[in-house]
Amino acid sequence: MCGIVGCVSKENCYEKILSALSGLEYRGYDSAGIAMVSPSKTLNVRKKKGYVSNLKGKPLAGDTGIGHTRWATHGKPSDANAHPHVSGKFALVHNGIVENFRTLKDELLRQGEVFLSETDSEVIVKLIARAYDGDFFGAVAKACERLKGSYALAVLCADFPGEIVGVRQGSPLVAGAAADALYLCSDVPALCGAAEFICPASDGEFIRIGGGKICFCDGQGREICKQFTRVPPESRLTSAASGTFMEKEISEIPRALSDTLAGLTETDFAPCARILRGAKQVYAAACGTALHAAEMFADVAESEVRCPVFCFAASEFRYRDPLIGKDDLFVAVSQSGETADTLQAARLAKERGAYVLAVTNIAQSSLASLAHFTIVMRAGPEIAVAATKSYNCQLLCLYYLAAQMKFYRTQEFPDWFASLPSLSSAAEETFGCFLQMSALAAKLKDARGMFCLGRGLDVRTAEEGALKVKEIAYVFAEGYAAGELKHGTLALIEEGFPVFTISTSPALASKTDNALAEAKARGAFTVLLSQDTAALSESCADCKCALPALHEKLMPVLAVIPLQYFACRMCLLRGYDPDKPRNLAKSVTVE
Ligand code: F6R
Repeated sequence: MCGIVGCVSKENCYEKILSALSGLEYRGYDSAGIAMVSPSKTLNVRKKKGYVSNLKGKPLAGDTGIGHTRWATHGKPSDANAHPHVSGKFALVHNGIVENFRTLKDELLRQGEVFLSETDSEVIVKLIARAYDGDFFGAVAKACERLKGSYALAVLCADFPGEIVGVRQGSPLVAGAAADALYLCSDVPALCGAAEFICPASDGEFIRIGGGKICFCDGQGREICKQFTRVPPESRLTSAASGTFMEKEISEIPRALSDTLAGLTETDFAPCARILRGAKQVYAAACGTALHAAEMFADVAESEVRCPVFCFAASEFRYRDPLIGKDDLFVAVSQSGETADTLQAARLAKERGAYVLAVTNIAQSSLASLAHFTIVMRAGPEIAVAATKSYNCQLLCLYYLAAQMKFYRTQEFPDWFASLPSLSSAAEETFGCFLQMSALAAKLKDARGMFCLGRGLDVRTAEEGALKVKEIAYVFAEGYAAGELKHGTLALIEEGFPVFTISTSPALASKTDNALAEAKARGAFTVLLSQDTAALSESCADCKCALPALHEKLMPVLAVIPLQYFACRMCLLRGYDPDKPRNLAKSVTVE
């Protein structure tokens, strides 16, 4: 997704902006650009389709600049559509979508404006330039009054070297301070490498950098008192010393699980005790991988807590006019805490009076500031677009939440609760499956498609494994309930078609194996993943992968790991970059 950076420094800041843009690369983008204003009040812009590295070269002059990585929404990836956009004395970078841009553009065209790009963003800089009467901040504030939709902006004005105006409305923006520079950025982890102190803006807030300080204010220029916090060292981006970020992040799962569990045991759930004890119904919503974690939560919590738990794709939640209200708990799950659909769903739940509980990896995220209560997982920065360690940690947090709910209602913890501390070492044991997964990836790398099957909680693992294969190896993969196979999809099985089966519930093992046998009888190449030695020995699978044994209810945290690794190996063997899958972005900040 698009990324914004702004910097005012004591010296030329071109390299600082370039380096911050590199920190934003992991989010996915297709073009990049920088604008700088020099002390002699000239505005210079360099922008290019493709990588941030295309912007390297003789630094543009100035100690004040803005930069952008663009993920195309309005208009194809091109030099012209790349940000910054310029009008008169102004340069602007924009994240988000201006929903009324067609109306505004028509109006500006009638007034004689000429557009150089197909973007919605260019209308904003034109509105600012037209509103300008010598008051930089006033022009930005006035233009913003005309905008509908979500945006974060950073704006430069040639008349004001040393100043940047930023604003946040529905799209994240954070201010950062270091000894030698002041920053704006759309992404907390990307800024953490540069700034020592950070402070996120809330919707409707402006950030003004100028005169060597950062000031937050409202649209009338009234100052807002904000608190900066020191950047925690663990939130700084680190590089994948060797290999890819995805491999590094899979290898970090055991550490991420033990850190997350330590954080959970330190978390005081007392502030949400009333709702954990008394919620009449529980809703959970999320997107993509986080949705699979939320689905798992719905299954586990409903069975433990004995109250209805409904789970929805956050992108759909609003459109069904849900029956959520006071005395209901809404659980929003998001690694980034910035996913637009998840935020919108949480806002709706809050508006209707529900108690919003967030599970996120980023304590300063928009979701955390919107929620009544936040569980922060400690996965550490996740750079690869495909979520891995954050999924395992989301599951852990959600199991913990289900256990707390049960405890507040019955004074008893679920029987699997005592096994949570063993998850980390068991996760490490799953690495023993990696050789087998590498061999499978080599065998199956040219497959045209594959199925992942499971029953009960294993359906979620099957869905998540299939999503990983689709998004990074670009192989069509479908994950679903094993019992559904014979209701249509069995027709697709042909000689050699890969079918992975996840079977971690001994009570369901023989039924799941029936599905595997049905597929095998029609020529499928079958793989079974299980911790259940009886299930493994009785199955007719072509390849059997033994998972470490832990309480069966917790197996989803473990069973997904070999699948994450398999997808990564398959992607690499097919010649793709697992960290930057095509068309995808980390943290999807548009609806
Ligand atoms: C898949 C993946 C995405 C995210 C989804 C939600 O590997 O990473 O499906 O899970 O975009 O992102 P967050 O968790 O940041 O809300």
